Amino acid sequence: MTGTMNLRSRAQLLGCVLGLRSLALVLWGIPGARALDNGLAMTPTMGWLHWERFMCNTDCEEDPDSCVSEKLFMQMADLMDSEGWRDVGYEYLCIDDCWMAPQRDSKGRLQADPKRFPGGIRRLADYVHGKGLKLGIYADVGKLTCAGFPGSYGYYDIDAKTFADWGVDLLKFDGCHFDTLVDLADGYKYMSLALNRTGRSIVYSCEWPLYMMPFRKIILGAGLVVRWLSSHVPLGVCQFGSRVRTWHRLARHAVPNYTEVREYCNHWRNFADIYDAWQSVKSVLDWTSSNQEKIVDAAGPGGWNDPDMLVIGNFGLSWDQQITQMALWAIMAAPLFMSNDLRQISPQAKALLQDKDVIAINQDPLGKQGYRLRKEDNIEVWERPLSDFAWAVAMVNLQEIGGPRFHTISLASLGGGLACLPACLITELLPVKGKLGFYEWTSSLKLRINPTGTVLLRLDRTN
Ligand code: GLA
Repeated sequence: MTGTMNLRSRAQLLGCVLGLRSLALVLWGIPGARALDNGLAMTPTMGWLHWERFMCNTDCEEDPDSCVSEKLFMQMADLMDSEGWRDVGYEYLCIDDCWMAPQRDSKGRLQADPKRFPGGIRRLADYVHGKGLKLGIYADVGKLTCAGFPGSYGYYDIDAKTFADWGVDLLKFDGCHFDTLVDLADGYKYMSLALNRTGRSIVYSCEWPLYMMPFRKIILGAGLVVRWLSSHVPLGVCQFGSRVRTWHRLARHAVPNYTEVREYCNHWRNFADIYDAWQSVKSVLDWTSSNQEKIVDAAGPGGWNDPDMLVIGNFGLSWDQQITQMALWAIMAAPLFMSNDLRQISPQAKALLQDKDVIAINQDPLGKQGYRLRKEDNIEVWERPLSDFAWAVAMVNLQEIGGPRFHTISLASLGGGLACLPACLITELLPVKGKLGFYEWTSSLKLRINPTGTVLLRLDRTN
């Protein structure tokens, strides 16, 4: 009996806390306080992020050069400065999971692991700023980070203030260890507003839509069961009606509302973590093209779909596959966060990542995300509208058997017929740079594409 009473009063208390929190969100949500008033990420954010390459390596005794430590970030900052990375746009040096000490301090603030970050984050931020760069940090909306370090749930205001006091310029906010979809959404919104209220310009990088995915699957599955029951089991009208209503309510919470996500986040992950393999890059592209009707229009200055890190310069991708990742991340207007070791990167990978013409497509001020135009015979054609009526076009050869293949493209089929009307100058940007010449609207272009490789073109209209 006492147990039931306790449970009930705890539930009432929780209800009250959640109610107050929702009220606070409504009040803070009054126009003028929106996160995207932060004026940041007007073009996709560019930088370096440690996760894919260095993961949660905390063993600085065994592996002093690759553990997650201030030394690693200082070395990367030095190279971003001296090797031309900052000059082509890679500005944000970002820490991912596993930087924290396992406990908060006596005032409830997060603290960096004292052994691996002896100078603390403030000193690291000063160092990074001294190199003309910005510092990104990582935290989690739930009770723990994905790797099990302290989460921000219950500490959003304190954490936002701590990051601002340290001079942090970007927050990647992960979504592990939350209880309900409402908590997830409230947490992402709350942190966005808390960051804004610090008065510091902090890019807000979310994973909100990604963490709705498992729920989406469960709820859609449940929906199918409800539908099956409704047609096979004789249920009372009321009973059935209320089941359908509950299902609809749940389903609404489980489908990302990109208008809302954009109001709170500067970029957002939609899909699983990338890893250093063609299979992974391909699955990101597949997911993006299959969902393009939902996500492409959500992107624009201030808010971008984030297909995750560039893994160029690592171990798993062939040269053609690295070209494909660079070209398609430019077409998708993706944030460009490299995750590689800038101390040991081949001149070829460096030249690809620093290619100013490809970066210019990614950073095009019109800010429209590209999309897959068609797929035929294992060749995909993607296009992206650019400023000054120009277009970027990428042709990907997905056939993994055989050698290079020829593909002929009719110019009248590009850009809704307008890309080359009445004529255009075509420049090949990847894999080899060079002007292909002037083309009439009625002409076509025959190109050779390597297996898993891409040809990236820029079309500039002429009169
Ligand atoms: C999740 C994120 C990754 C990375 C790890 C860190 O999996 O999606 O990008 O931040 O957590 O634990």
